[in-house]
Amino acid sequence: PKLIVVTREGEEREVMGDAGLSVMEVIRDSGFDELLAICGGCCSCATCHIHVDPEFAAKLPPMSEDENDLLDSSSDRDERSRLSCQVQFTNALDGLRITIAAED
Ligand code: FES
Repeated sequence: PKLIVVTREGEEREVMGDAGLSVMEVIRDSGFDELLAICGGCCSCATCHIHVDPEFAAKLPPMSEDENDLLDSSSDRDERSRLSCQVQFTNALDGLRITIAAED
C-alpha cells in the first residue's frame, strides 16, 4: 500500500510500504530521518508521533491506554495524533496521509 508522508518542513512524498509493518517502520525504512522512533516501537518514547489525515480516522486501530498516556507528554498533540509504531500498516490504509509531528 501507498503512504503519503508530509515532513516537518511541509515537503510531501509518496512511498510504498509492506502491509504488516507498522507505519513507523514504513516511514523509517523510506529514509525519513526526522522520525526518531528511539525506542524502536515499544510504545515508550513518543518520538514516532504523527498526525493522521482525518479521512482515515475510522480505519485506524483503537488507541491503547499506554499510547494515549504517552501522547499526553507531547506539546504537539491534537485529535489527529497517533504514535506511528502503534498503527499497523494494512491494505485498508492505502493512500494514508500522515504528517510528522513537531519535535518536543
Ligand atoms: Fe517509541 Fe513509537 S517508536 S513510542
